[in-house]
Amino acid sequence: MPDIGFVNGRFMPLAEATVSVEDRGFQFGDGVYEVIRTYGGRPYRLEAHLARLERSAKALGISMPFSMSQWSSFVTEGLRLTGYGDTKVYLQLTRGVAPRDHLIPTEVQPTAVMTFREMRPMDPAMQAAGVAAITVEDFRWGRCDIKSVNLLANVLARQMARDAGVFETIFVRGGQVTEGAVSNVMLIRRGVLVTPPESERILSGVTRTVVLEVARHGGVPVEERAVRIEELRIADEAFLTGTTVEILPLICLDGSPIGAGRPGELSTRLKAWFRATHE
Ligand code: PDD
Repeated sequence: MPDIGFVNGRFMPLAEATVSVEDRGFQFGDGVYEVIRTYGGRPYRLEAHLARLERSAKALGISMPFSMSQWSSFVTEGLRLTGYGDTKVYLQLTRGVAPRDHLIPTEVQPTAVMTFREMRPMDPAMQAAGVAAITVEDFRWGRCDIKSVNLLANVLARQMARDAGVFETIFVRGGQVTEGAVSNVMLIRRGVLVTPPESERILSGVTRTVVLEVARHGGVPVEERAVRIEELRIADEAFLTGTTVEILPLICLDGSPIGAGRPGELSTRLKAWFRATHE
């Protein structure tokens, strides 16, 4: 089963997929992206991912080379070519190729790239047991709502987690939790699900939206509001959400347990409800 690449409308073996060294994505990080996974071979919440791609591109003034239905057909075709049971689709759209100059070129065609690789789910034992995280002052730029390929701060934060022997780094801005390096953060206190609101400080996660939906549907009170870091430390339960982590219990923060230091009852119920959205 081959890994597949896609460049500007053409499919090829991934190893043969290349773009110019003068692509502005490569030189300036001038681009946006999405990570989409399949369940049972079907892309999960593809429309939501494509809608966010469009929002991100619009925010940077990058034009969309394909319509939503064209993107969707390309994703379907890529999945057919790989034939994996489950696939991780990476989709990147950059401003395009131009001689290096900070100023935005006027005549430029965006570069659309996709990769289709086998989806390797998280270690089930880790998923079940929950993970630890550290915190760091949020040192990213001010438009974290744009899913930009400028991920240097996230890369460094993720490495800090690895070096500290934990799974994730959680960003804190002025005493308030924003999000993880690769995930959104939610906590439960006295039966209420609390998470930072959508703003320019966080990425509006597709998984976040689904989790809030299933929580509300299941009668769990939800508060989308600023979360002080102290609240996370004294939460009854906490978890991370994201395409790659799904709902991942957070049981330890900066070396201290959260709640009972193991996945909580409500998190476990939310996991089951989340699973039902893709089974
Ligand atoms: N990242 N916040 C950040 C900073 C993220 O990078 C991600 C996902 C999320 C969760 O978003 P979603 O639920 O839509 O996956 C939140 C992807 C998976 C990545 O960069 O690999």
